Amino acid sequence: MERTTTVISQENIDRQLALCDQVAQLTAQEAVKPLAFVDTYGCQQNEADSERIRGYLERMGFGFTKDEEEARIIVINTCAIREHAEQKVLGNVGALVHVKRRHPEQIICLCGCMMQEQHVSDKIRQSFRHVDLVFGPHALWRFPEFIHTLYTQKGRIFQNADEAGSIAEGIPVVRQDNIKAWVSIMYGCNNFCSYCIVPYVRGRERSRKPEDILSEVRQLVAEGYKDITLLGQNVNSYGKDLDDPMDFSDLLKAVNDIPGDFLIRFMTSHPKDATQKLFETMASCEKVAPVLHLPFQAGNDRILQVMNRRHTREQYLEKIKALKALIPDIVLTSDIIVGFPGETTEEFEDTLKVLEEVRYDALFTFIYSPRVGTPAASMPDPMSREEKLANFNRLVQLQDSISEEKHAAYIGKTVRCLIDGKSDDARYDLTARTPGNRLVRLTGDVCALGQFRDVRITGANKWSLFGELV
Ligand code: 5AD
Ligand code: SF4
Repeated sequence: MERTTTVISQENIDRQLALCDQVAQLTAQEAVKPLAFVDTYGCQQNEADSERIRGYLERMGFGFTKDEEEARIIVINTCAIREHAEQKVLGNVGALVHVKRRHPEQIICLCGCMMQEQHVSDKIRQSFRHVDLVFGPHALWRFPEFIHTLYTQKGRIFQNADEAGSIAEGIPVVRQDNIKAWVSIMYGCNNFCSYCIVPYVRGRERSRKPEDILSEVRQLVAEGYKDITLLGQNVNSYGKDLDDPMDFSDLLKAVNDIPGDFLIRFMTSHPKDATQKLFETMASCEKVAPVLHLPFQAGNDRILQVMNRRHTREQYLEKIKALKALIPDIVLTSDIIVGFPGETTEEFEDTLKVLEEVRYDALFTFIYSPRVGTPAASMPDPMSREEKLANFNRLVQLQDSISEEKHAAYIGKTVRCLIDGKSDDARYDLTARTPGNRLVRLTGDVCALGQFRDVRITGANKWSLFGELV
C-alpha cells in the first residue's frame, strides 16, 4: 500500500497565493465588491475544506453571501458517502441553471468527494453545462489557479485525477465560528470498509506533522477558541506515516499540554485502532472531553467480516468495557448501517443487542446505500427496502428510548458547559454543549457566549437538555 506522503512545497503554495493576488487585482476593478456563495455538504472534513476555500476567496478579494442570486462565484462542496447526499447536490446544481441564466457572468464550481468520482464528473461535463469548474479534494490547494484561469480565459476546467493524496500547509483559512474550530490532523483512509467510498475519493492516510498541528492549535487558543476538534477519517492511526512516528495518544497529550482553558475533541476513531493507551490518555488529559465516537456499524460478526471492519463484536465490547472502567461517565456515540447486503433480520438484531449493552448517548444511523466501485455494491442484496426500513425504525426507536433515559439522568444536575450560540427556539436564549457534547438549550444572559459556565439542567427530551445559567 502506498505510504509515502507528498507534501506540496511552500513554493507551490506561494505561487497559488500570488495567483490569488492577481485575481484580487481583477476583482478590485469591478464596480462593487464581488461576493462568493460557499455551500457545504457532508462531514466536518468538508466543513474544514470549505474554510480553506473561503480563505483563498477572501485573499482573491471576495466577500461572502448566503444568496446565490448576488454571488459572482458559487462553490458547492459535495459529499459522496450516500446516494441521498448525491441526489440532493445534483438537484441543487440543476436548479442553478436558472440562476446563471439571470447572471451569465457567474462562475459555478463543484468540489469535494463526489467530484472525485469519474462517473459524476462525466455527468457534469455532459449534462450540467452551466458548471465551469469541477475539482476533487486532491486539487483543492490549486483552487486559485483554476479561478485565475476562469477569470482570464474561456472554457471549463475538470481536475479530478486519481492520486494517493498530498498535504498542503499554509493555505489561508476563514473559519465559520469563533468558539469552535476544526483542525485536520490527517487526511484519507486505508481501511477500505467494503461499503465505503471514502478511501477512493480521499486517498491514502497521511498525517500532518505534529509541529504544524500544535502551532495551529496554539494560535486558535490565542485567538480565544474554546472547543477544538482534531479531525481525520481514522484519527487512531495518526502518525504511522511520519518520519519520526508519533501516535495519536502522544499527539493528544501534546495538544493537552498547550496552556489555556479549552476542550479537545476528536473524530473519527476506528475500533481496531482504539487502544488502551488512548483510553488512558483520555482519562489523564484534563482538556480531552469525556466523549468517544466509536462507530461499530453492525453487531453481527459475519456482517462485520464482510464489511471488512477487522474487529469482532466481542473485541469492540471489550474495548468499551475497558474505557468505561477508566472513565465511568464517558459519553459514547456511534455510526450504524442497517441493511448491508445480505444482512438478515436475525443478524440485524445483534446490532440491537449492542445498543442495549453499550447504551450509547446518541447514534448516527444510516440505511445502506450502494456506492459505485466499492466491493459491497456488487454483493447480492435480497432484502426489500420495506424490510430494511422496518429494521431501521426499530433501531431508531430503541436508541430514542435510551437517549431519553440518559438525558433524563441529567435533570437536577449542574454541569459546566461551553455556551456556544444563540438559541433558535424563542423559549430559550442560548445553546450550550456539555463536555460530552450534548446540546443544552438554556435561559441566561448573552454575555455568557463563548464562556465555560455552570448550567443547571431542568429538563430533557431524546434530542437535547434544557436548563438555566447558574
Ligand atoms: N451506506 C450507508 N452508510 C454509509 N456510511 C459510509 N458508507 C456508507 C454507505 N455506503 C456511514 C458509516 C460511516 C458514516 C460516516 O457513514 O456508518 O461511519
Ligand atoms: Fe470509510 Fe471505513 Fe475509512 Fe471510515 S474507516 S472512512 S467507514 S473506509
